[in-house]
Amino acid sequence: MTTTYGFWLAGRQETGPETFDVRHPYDDSLVGTVAIASDAQVEEAVAAAYAVKDEFAATPAYQRAAALDHVAKRLTERAEELAQLITRENGKPIKWARGEIGRAASVFRWAAEEARRFNSGEGQRLDTDAGGTGRLALVRRFNRGVVLGIAPFNFPLNLVAHKVAPAIAVGAPIILKPAPATPISAIVLGEILAETDLPAGSWSVLTVPNDRMPALVQDPRLPVISFTGSDKVGYSILDSVPRKHVTLELGGNAAAVVLADWSSEEDLEWAATRIATFANYQGGQSCISVQRVIADASVYDRLVEKVVAKVSAQVTGDPTDDAVDVGPLVSEDAAKRVESWVDEAVAAGAQLLTGGKREGASYAPTVLSELPGGVTLATEEVFGPVLTIQKVDGTDAAFAAVNDSKFGLQAGVFTHDVQTAFRAHRELEVGGVVIGDAPSYRADQMPYGGVKDSGIGREGVAYAMADYTYERVLILTGLNL
Ligand code: SIN
Repeated sequence: MTTTYGFWLAGRQETGPETFDVRHPYDDSLVGTVAIASDAQVEEAVAAAYAVKDEFAATPAYQRAAALDHVAKRLTERAEELAQLITRENGKPIKWARGEIGRAASVFRWAAEEARRFNSGEGQRLDTDAGGTGRLALVRRFNRGVVLGIAPFNFPLNLVAHKVAPAIAVGAPIILKPAPATPISAIVLGEILAETDLPAGSWSVLTVPNDRMPALVQDPRLPVISFTGSDKVGYSILDSVPRKHVTLELGGNAAAVVLADWSSEEDLEWAATRIATFANYQGGQSCISVQRVIADASVYDRLVEKVVAKVSAQVTGDPTDDAVDVGPLVSEDAAKRVESWVDEAVAAGAQLLTGGKREGASYAPTVLSELPGGVTLATEEVFGPVLTIQKVDGTDAAFAAVNDSKFGLQAGVFTHDVQTAFRAHRELEVGGVVIGDAPSYRADQMPYGGVKDSGIGREGVAYAMADYTYERVLILTGLNL
């Protein structure tokens, strides 16, 4: 029996005349049929969000925190069901889907805590100059208005959580638009949100086709846009609404740097294991999966041998199998694109060390060396299970290679030297540097986001809350300080 999933309009589940099918990337079986919101239904959701914004902003912290805690609890209770769903709609291996549920619950738990702390205000005495005698400033934050959250397919629940939970924490209504390939996890999150007593209109989960998004992006009742996805789409949104507050969490071609001091057998085993795992987790469909390995010449040969062995040993296949490391990409088209980029690189002279084969939506974990400059793989985000290895001489050259990219999201640096760690922090043009591990580590409370073409603004619960709000100063006069 096929389930039809209705979208959520101002807290009620609705269907419409049109639907689309969500299919499991591994075997093309039907996961569910999803109703599409009509223009009239989108208008109703936006109007409801706009109408409730003052009431929602004024809800007491304990109510917002209770709703967020409830979501965290219910995600944990429904964890296995949701993990299976994520694997079915996205194709990511079940072990990674389970991890995603734990992270999403943590995002809501953090948001509950931050909601309790939010906006207590910060005092600033103003009598530092004679003109400010008897005056005190209280700085508090107020939300910018309704948020339009646009989520990607690669973490269908957790990257939705990163849009929704901070909005609830600051009392800003949100219209959430999930990715067309993976909307069902967000719709099930809607079931959980509907169990709370958040006011009607404070949240909607709307399945809007991408070609109807420009109108929503332009809507003046939605002054904040939080987008996660490709640089091309992200910057086209920003360019179309330059006066809105736009946060962009875009792509990356994250580098793992292995320096000369990371040279013992144990060091290289660890580096190779982490690189092989995090180049291929979720089929490489994470903005911080390892795409580039930059290795000092003194450790290069030993590292390459280990990385190739570990990448070749990744277990591929049915993502519902607990033992599988790498499942399909989100679609056959995505796998074909990856294939064409690798083929282009090999035709231009890159050495294929393992992988390089496609079967349907699945692409074999792949390692390339001697990548010529100018090919697509050298400049763009592959978003697939493909890594390239480059040999460099010394730390200067390694850090220059990391920065030789239009992206700057995260970097991993394998070094034991604390001075080099601080140097990496100073010199690498990225939003985060991980020492002694792959660049793919993210804790959901940390600031997360990039520089250069990797985006604008930061997610991470408290940071997204800051982003959805602005400071407003209250100046009290005539005080006896
Ligand atoms: C992303 O792909 O940008 C998200 C990575 C993560 O949350 O681990």
